[in-house]
Amino acid sequence: MADYGGMIRNWFVSLCYIMRSLIFRILSVGPIPNHIAFIMDGNRRYSKKHNLGQGDGHKAGFIALMSLLKYCYELGIKYVTIFAFSIDNFRRHPAEVQYVMDLMQDKMEILLKETTIVHDYGVRIHFVGDLKLLPTPVRLAAEKVMRATANNNRTVLFVCVAYTSLNQIIRAVEEACHEKIIKIDDCINYKDEEVIMEVDIEKYADMAVAPDPDILVRSSGETRLSNFLLWQTSNCMLYSPKALWPEMSLKHIVWAVLDYQRHYLFLEKQRKKKMKQL
Ligand code: IPE
Ligand code: MG
Repeated sequence: MADYGGMIRNWFVSLCYIMRSLIFRILSVGPIPNHIAFIMDGNRRYSKKHNLGQGDGHKAGFIALMSLLKYCYELGIKYVTIFAFSIDNFRRHPAEVQYVMDLMQDKMEILLKETTIVHDYGVRIHFVGDLKLLPTPVRLAAEKVMRATANNNRTVLFVCVAYTSLNQIIRAVEEACHEKIIKIDDCINYKDEEVIMEVDIEKYADMAVAPDPDILVRSSGETRLSNFLLWQTSNCMLYSPKALWPEMSLKHIVWAVLDYQRHYLFLEKQRKKKMKQL
């Protein structure tokens, strides 16, 4: 017997894809951001709102993440950064921390399967943060994902885990100082090596390979930056839809990009000023 359910589902998926392509074509008449960053907030509130079990909000959040990543890459946004777990989140209830760590490890394995968006969009994944703070199996899984995707070059995903901006800046300053000390030891005329400049710190920033984000999206209506990308967001649009993270959808990406396009000329002017100062 014909599988009408399956046929209707396939037809619906194709229709959505065509509609999305059309919307993205129209959006592409204007400038498309290079880099979009997400603070994925509101997973636990989603669980409560829908009377789900503990952790189900995080699971739903992962499904939303996969769709949003697909939309970003389809639209031509090359760099996406997500705030997956803050160093401050380690202070949450141990059972919740354990659950999120297990979920992350599980999802890392899934990401490496051939049928995921990592393969469809050639995503190179970088884990950014103080990775030694992660439980060993999670850190090893993260390192495996980074190795396995190291040759992908079409798109990039930065996953910030065990991350805070201050921690990252301190680590970059430490490394820059370390390099300067070695140079001072080796050099007779070391005057230039005595000062730490902005470029020295940027050189050691975990995300040095990417341009600064153009848009920072924080779901669930919150407008706090929560120690996320403080160094990189001086010239970035903040978009804060009311939707909880698992409720985020195509319309939020479209709206964020339209808002970016509305402010594009101003943002470009600011960026050029900053380049001149460096
Ligand atoms: C963010 O969602 C996910 C993580 C920090 C792992 P939350 O867990 O902060 O969800 P709310 O904000 O409490 O609803
Ligand atoms: Mg929260």
